[in-house]
Amino acid sequence: MPQRRLFVTTALPYANGPFHIGHIMEYIQADIWVRFQRMRGHEVHFVGADDAHGAPIMLAAEKAGQAPEKFVAEIARSRKQYFEGFNIAFDNWHSTHSAENTELSQDIYRRLKKAGLVYTKPVEQFYDPVKSMFLADRYIKGECPNCGAKDQYGDACENCSAAYAATDLKNPYSALSGAAPVLKTSEHHFFRLSDPKCKAFLKGWLEQPGRLQSQVVNKAKEWLDGEGDKALGDWDISRDPPYFGIRVPDIEEEKYLYVWLDAPIGYLASFKNYCGKTGRDFEQFLQDPGTEQIHFIGKDIIYFHTLFWPAMLEYAGKPYKVPDHVYVHGFITVSGDKMSKSRGTGISPLRYLELGMNPEWLRYYIAAKLNANVEDLDFNPDDFLARVNSDLVGKFVNIASRCAPFVTKWFGGKLKGVELKKESVLDIALTVKHAAPEVAAFYEAREFGKAIRRIMDLADEVNRFVDAEKPWELAKQTGQETRLHIVCSEAIEAFRFLAILLAPVLPRTAELSAQMLGVKQFSWNDLQKYLGQDHAIGAYKHLTSRVDDRQLDALFDIASVPQATAPQRHAEQQQHIAKEKSVSDIVTIDDFNKLDLRVAKITRAEQVEGADKLLKLTLDLGGSTRTVFAGIKSAYEPASLEGKLAVLVANLAPRTMKFGVSEGMVLAASGAEPGIFLISPDAGAAPGMRVK
Ligand code: MSP
Ligand code: ZN
Repeated sequence: MPQRRLFVTTALPYANGPFHIGHIMEYIQADIWVRFQRMRGHEVHFVGADDAHGAPIMLAAEKAGQAPEKFVAEIARSRKQYFEGFNIAFDNWHSTHSAENTELSQDIYRRLKKAGLVYTKPVEQFYDPVKSMFLADRYIKGECPNCGAKDQYGDACENCSAAYAATDLKNPYSALSGAAPVLKTSEHHFFRLSDPKCKAFLKGWLEQPGRLQSQVVNKAKEWLDGEGDKALGDWDISRDPPYFGIRVPDIEEEKYLYVWLDAPIGYLASFKNYCGKTGRDFEQFLQDPGTEQIHFIGKDIIYFHTLFWPAMLEYAGKPYKVPDHVYVHGFITVSGDKMSKSRGTGISPLRYLELGMNPEWLRYYIAAKLNANVEDLDFNPDDFLARVNSDLVGKFVNIASRCAPFVTKWFGGKLKGVELKKESVLDIALTVKHAAPEVAAFYEAREFGKAIRRIMDLADEVNRFVDAEKPWELAKQTGQETRLHIVCSEAIEAFRFLAILLAPVLPRTAELSAQMLGVKQFSWNDLQKYLGQDHAIGAYKHLTSRVDDRQLDALFDIASVPQATAPQRHAEQQQHIAKEKSVSDIVTIDDFNKLDLRVAKITRAEQVEGADKLLKLTLDLGGSTRTVFAGIKSAYEPASLEGKLAVLVANLAPRTMKFGVSEGMVLAASGAEPGIFLISPDAGAAPGMRVK
């Protein structure tokens, strides 16, 4: 497999606010793909930047009483915690408000002009005489020319959906100052996108097989082939002051490049900045015919990335190169709701981290729901909890937690070479290994949901193997040591292969698994070989815990959301909170630590004469013995309890009962439905261990 040279970016977020879950989803998608390529041994440079320019950011800075430079610099400083928190492995993060971007943007502008693709013409536009600035349509309001609805924006009516020009509004006013706008003329610079050679180039670029998703090609061609008033027009690339941006070069007058011209150039600016830091030759890298330039973006910015951007790059000429791929994703919704900052819905990524929720859960959940199409994806809290707990913990981690302790306890932590696996019923590690190319193809094609499904099917198979072989029973039988050793070694090898397959999605869990298995780090090549005879693994280490319902409640806690939320979500949240309240008051960790919870082995369980609810349990605490009367008679046959592990509240004051003294209490679950369910630790826990 020849090594690829990949230059990968995600869309540059506007530097006017914190990241929302939509940004994080995009970074997770790209990061999974990037990590996969790295594991395959390819050369990958993954960069991003803040999109710092434009009127909205200038106005936001003004509102905050700050210079725009300072405003965007502060936003930039807040980014790191998200990347670290969600394990997003950018090689570089930069800004469009930078020396590199000024240089590159002016260079590209000059080259386009030289190619005869830039011209100027006067444009008449609304102007706010109070703010002394031209007003983009979104800053003009007035009465709809069609239905007369008041306070409609300058491009379309929210009441009757009519589309119109801002100049058609009746009684227009500036949304910034309230003043009546006046018409004023100014000279604008245009990029000749409608030029036949430009359109011919774009058609060829769009139609290159394998370059874009078919939905994206169709969308872009609709715009390209539009006729009449839908025809592709030239692109207005300049703005008048006041504006926060990059100066149009070589002219006396103060004019700025439109933010959408310098924004994608920010991809190159960040890469150039990174080349400077790492001693790479920026131009040489771009000109290398082997270099692939790949952009991950959301569906709302297809227009800019499949028409303007490739055309700009094509006609700017070398060393610039056109994008090889633009990979488009849909939007993430939360419980079916479109995110909206103003309504306060959505999930705050920072709150997620602050609550101590594992970033790998979110990465896993998003991966499981992503495909290569431009489809929206819904974050549903119940689904999130179910998937993470049943797949990640119940299927994947379960294999290691069930089998590794036997290897540690019985075989000094050493594996049996599974090439000696003649006695094994199933070649389970090999089954996983053989599925690797299929999983790789899914990752390559960004079919992450399919990759996850395939991996979890494999995990199911491994668990079935363990269930059938029953190492916990082999461990009790004499003469079965070799078989026990083989079974557990097989399962561990299979677990390692699964961990490698999951590593692009779960980098941290993969790291912990590698440590536990006594290997440095995983690469895709590690799927070629077994750990083998006598390889020493460490003791089973906790890999990831289950999602706690209460964490999700807290994540959606309306108290932390500034404004009213959508009614339905609101009601659900109220229920969640009510549910939590009805259980108990909040305790501190110090309160919790007053409990001495211990793993206990039930060595004897007996009926109690005259008691209709109680069983008498004799418990081994790993040295000492306790007697406990437990109210579980209705749910358990005494014989079925012997040998089981339970959790004991070891420092509960002894209680004298009719039948004797009870020295503690075993934990069990019960609810509105009938049934009592003893709490039992996972296999591998030993009597006497503290439960925390
Ligand atoms: N600044 C422009 C992009 C310039 S690229 C040269 C921009 N910024 S943004 O902050 O609004 O969006 C950044 C990225 O987040 C875009 O790819 C956008 O599609 C994506 N998302 C914004 N909301 C989203 C969701 N709800 N779900 C998934 N992605 C979303 O656009
Ligand atoms: Zn209307």
